[in-house]
Amino acid sequence: MEKLKKLFLFGSIGIVFIFIAALFITLKLFNQSENNTLDASESEKLIIGFSQIGTESSWRIQNTKSIFDAAKARNIEILYDDAKQKQSNQLKAIRSFIVYQVDVIVFVPIVSDGWDNVLQEAKDANIPVIVIDRQINVHSSLYAGFLGENGFEEGKSAAKFLLQKCKNLENEKINILELAGTANSSIAVSRAEGFRYLIDKDSRFNFIHSEDGDFLRSRGKEIMDKIILENGGLKIGEQNIDVIFSHNDPMTLGLLESLEENKIASNKTVIISIDAEQESIDSLKEGKLNCVVECNPNLGPTLMDLVEKVAAGEKIPRTTYMKETVFTENDDFSTYTPRGY
Ligand code: AHR
Repeated sequence: MEKLKKLFLFGSIGIVFIFIAALFITLKLFNQSENNTLDASESEKLIIGFSQIGTESSWRIQNTKSIFDAAKARNIEILYDDAKQKQSNQLKAIRSFIVYQVDVIVFVPIVSDGWDNVLQEAKDANIPVIVIDRQINVHSSLYAGFLGENGFEEGKSAAKFLLQKCKNLENEKINILELAGTANSSIAVSRAEGFRYLIDKDSRFNFIHSEDGDFLRSRGKEIMDKIILENGGLKIGEQNIDVIFSHNDPMTLGLLESLEENKIASNKTVIISIDAEQESIDSLKEGKLNCVVECNPNLGPTLMDLVEKVAAGEKIPRTTYMKETVFTENDDFSTYTPRGY
């Protein structure tokens, strides 16, 4: 009897044990298959290697944000590198994207030259490349396409405003100071060329000084501080500065800071800037600027369209320009909406 009881007890324990073990194995298998499903969708995710040049302006920060937001909305992953304004860092980052075998490489070339070798390496590894914001001097077979702003048109828009503004000033000499963007960057070159394309046809205009401000606010202020210190005002030697054409907002805002600190009135000087950051639009409304040409940083959604196409082996247009507008002192400011950057 005692033996029978023990047998029954061990038997019951055994059955419970087998039941728990079976349950454990079932749960484990279920969990594994769930993980496998996740792994599969994870591995289907497109991966972009994205080399950005830095965080030098609100424009730039918005540009990066637009790309991240759009990628998130499409479930696309980004391997990101901030080059901190150095081409050498960009070259390293692109090479690491090649080793990682990302699906598409996207980069903002800080300068126009010096990309041939690394792009040939990407091509050899069958990784398509999309160039954004600034253009490059390489054979077109080395990248899929370009997406960004039209710097030449931006320069022309600045010049159109100036010509209109000066239309009644016959036979007067009009002296221009230019604050230029990063040397050897396509965007600084094209803005300067677009501006000159219209201005050079009019003999009233005279460039009295042009200096590289590297697209930085600190440089804009530094350049203006020096001009004021060396010339005793808003002039170069004996010539008044009638017009300031600045290639971007941070340099313009730095320049305005310098004028304010030095208590120099600028109401007789026409100041034209490019980007349309909120702070510069506010300065336009306050009458401190006369014209701001928009440079559109929100290229994320269009970029993702192009990324999906090249990843699927499709061709994309050689060049896609963003839509851009111009803000001037003649506008009805009540129609302006917040810029968001
Ligand atoms: O390449 C675009 C330019 O770079 C923007 O005008 C400027 O603000 C940025 O630094």
